Amino acid sequence: MVCDDECGMMNAKRKIGIYTSPVMLPEAAPMPSPARVSGARFMRTVVSAAAIVLSGALYAADIERTGGPYVPTPQAVVDAMLDFAKVGPKDFVIDLGSGDGRIVLTAAQRHSARGRGFDIDPELVAQSNAEAQKRGLADRVSFVQQDVLQAPIESATVVTLYLLPGMMQNLQAKFIRELKPGTRIVAHDFPFGDWKPDRETSVDLPEKYGSPGPWKSNLFYWVVPARVQGVWQVSAPGLFNVPVALALQQQYQVLDGSTRAGGKAVPLAGGKVDADRVVFKLALPPGTVEFKGAIDGERMGGEATAGGRTFRWTAVRSPVAAQVP
Ligand SMILES: C[S@@+](CC[C@H](N)C(=O)[O-])C[C@H]1O[C@@H](n2cnc3c(N)ncnc32)[C@H](O)[C@@H]1O
Repeated sequence: MVCDDECGMMNAKRKIGIYTSPVMLPEAAPMPSPARVSGARFMRTVVSAAAIVLSGALYAADIERTGGPYVPTPQAVVDAMLDFAKVGPKDFVIDLGSGDGRIVLTAAQRHSARGRGFDIDPELVAQSNAEAQKRGLADRVSFVQQDVLQAPIESATVVTLYLLPGMMQNLQAKFIRELKPGTRIVAHDFPFGDWKPDRETSVDLPEKYGSPGPWKSNLFYWVVPARVQGVWQVSAPGLFNVPVALALQQQYQVLDGSTRAGGKAVPLAGGKVDADRVVFKLALPPGTVEFKGAIDGERMGGEATAGGRTFRWTAVRSPVAAQVP
């Protein structure tokens, strides 16, 4: 059986002495009653307290846990994370900084998924692999001792995280570079920097970090967007007589850009990328045209609707612009 919170905290206390110190229950950041503070302030305070708990033990560890010390996610939150990502039998779940392996083990046991955990701590990795053997899950899950920044993650369909904000920030670029479009990411308590989540939720807990609550665990969810940035030649017979150039700038799942029509720049509106799906509007001379389509490498296409009529459109990315990250 995987450790429950109590057991996880015992391990943490054994591994990192500071867990028995007041850092565990920071007097500087007492938990306020949600009845006495606004929801946003309560959430900020909870997240700050979580950061204090996670970061407080950094220098007491005997190995360099740059993503934070071992503090297990409560099982109720593990369940909520996997439900939030709608994990199923076709998924391959990677937990970065996998601790005692509970997220990957639960994904396999309850959702019939496969998966892998990476952790810097050899004892936690050995414990997780032993638990996988014990539960008869070793053919579907494995745990590897590796720094999360070096971990091979391309095979993931779901990535889970409970790491400090600095590491979340460091992992952002790796995720955009290495994960397939459509990969879901769920993080416990700490979001990325400028990559805003697609969805958020929270879980109320009577107890966390071995101390009575009320506590909230905040969950953040992202879908890795396809890379759409660049200059595209768009053809839409019936809508334009000749292909038009469309310049797209991408900030994660948000698309901006422009084309030219009648000698004027026409800005793009409502541009979004959801996995390999794209949607945007252009206010062209006949009226607003809504484009919906799918991206496949250097090509995309779909349907454009204008004035109640539907047109097929296709686009090819210009090779030079395709190099833009
Ligand atoms: C807060 S615990 C989360 C454990 C587990 N994911 C969970 O949610 O229950 C963070 C884990 O990340 C590991 N860790 C910290 N820095 C790491 C790094 N640079 N590479 C790999 N693992 C790391 C720690 O050893 C610890 O087990």
